[in-house]
Amino acid sequence: MTDSKYTRQTVTQVRTWVPGKLFSVRVTRDPAFAFQPGQFARVGLPADPTDLHAEPTVWRAYSMVSAPSADWLEFYSIVVPGGEFSPRMAQLQPGDALYVDKTPFGFLTLERFPTGDHLWLLATGTGLSAYLSILDDPAVWQRFDRIVLAHGVRTADELAYRDEIAAWQAAAPGKLIYLPIATRETLPGMPQERLTTLIADGRLEELAGLPLDPAPARVMLCGNPEMLADARKLLGERGFAPGRRGIPGTLAVENYW
Ligand SMILES: Cc1cc2nc3c(=O)[nH]c(=O)nc-3n(C[C@H](O)[C@H](O)[C@H](O)COP(=O)(O)OP(=O)(O)OC[C@H]3O[C@@H](n4cnc5c(N)ncnc54)[C@H](O)[C@@H]3O)c2cc1C
Ligand SMILES: NC(=O)c1ccc[n+]([C@@H]2O[C@H](COP(=O)([O-])OP(=O)(O)OC[C@H]3O[C@@H](n4cnc5c(N)ncnc54)[C@H](OP(=O)(O)O)[C@@H]3O)[C@@H](O)[C@H]2O)c1
Repeated sequence: MTDSKYTRQTVTQVRTWVPGKLFSVRVTRDPAFAFQPGQFARVGLPADPTDLHAEPTVWRAYSMVSAPSADWLEFYSIVVPGGEFSPRMAQLQPGDALYVDKTPFGFLTLERFPTGDHLWLLATGTGLSAYLSILDDPAVWQRFDRIVLAHGVRTADELAYRDEIAAWQAAAPGKLIYLPIATRETLPGMPQERLTTLIADGRLEELAGLPLDPAPARVMLCGNPEMLADARKLLGERGFAPGRRGIPGTLAVENYW
């Protein structure tokens, strides 16, 4: 290996959530690779998949789904039609190589926030990834009285990781409020609306049974950049603000593209 900035890991499991659109990949983990829940890694593949000895040349950011305590890394991905990286990543099989940068990045971490009672995790699409790592870490359950996980997707089949989410709910009854929101089909008992509409008209608070108020609430946003921009504006009007120059804020945001 000529570049010591990354390690070569081996795919151990591949899971298809929605054929041709959503999948996850589990790989071995370099024991020296430490990260905070909510952070992301740069993962790489060689441009020529047929050359088994080629160095990785195509790199993309991926949030860790797995907990820092797990001895594997897991990534949850969309397949972007015509994309340079994600269709290649979707072809990986157990035993294949995936390269992982040695340095984790990102500020979608709990240390961004001062103490608060309620944590709101708002995601569209694969923006869910980062929250799974956070929820898989015992610290978040001790720190917050209530956690709201709102996942906005086009259709119900894109509501990935539901079993894992149900297991967390069962382990701490009443603590995790899961709000699956589909915009292009009807889910029983749930509005067919964008998360931003539900923030604006107060229905997200009604569904959660909690106020979206910066006194008790700390909010994370992750996923579609247009959703982030709209949600930031709406939350800003309610008094939420990101941290600045080391001063913790009430809002943390991760843009996926
Ligand atoms: C900090 C960070 C963390 C990320 N974490 C994840 C993750 O956990 N899972 C994941 O699937 N992607 C994640 N991404 C996006 C990822 O890095 C790639 O963009 C994605 O894999 C597509 O790569 P590509 O080369 O196939 O297409 P690209 O050329 O990179 O993207 C082409 C277009 O596809 C769309 N697109 C890209 N990513 C997504 C997405 N995730 N969902 C919907 N549309 C998208 C955008 O319109 C983009 O302009 C993250 C990006 C950033 C910056
Ligand atoms: N899903 C598919 O069938 C499909 C088909 C072809 C290609 N793709 C690829 O997949 C990508 C989209 O992936 P995705 O479906 O996971 O992500 P997405 O387009 O970001 O949609 C995920 C959820 O976010 C919502 N959303 C989008 N913009 C928003 C905004 N400004 N404010 C609030 N909510 C917003 C969507 O609502 P709306 O439904 O109202 O938009 C949807 O509920 C495309 O870029 C394309 O590359 C997907």
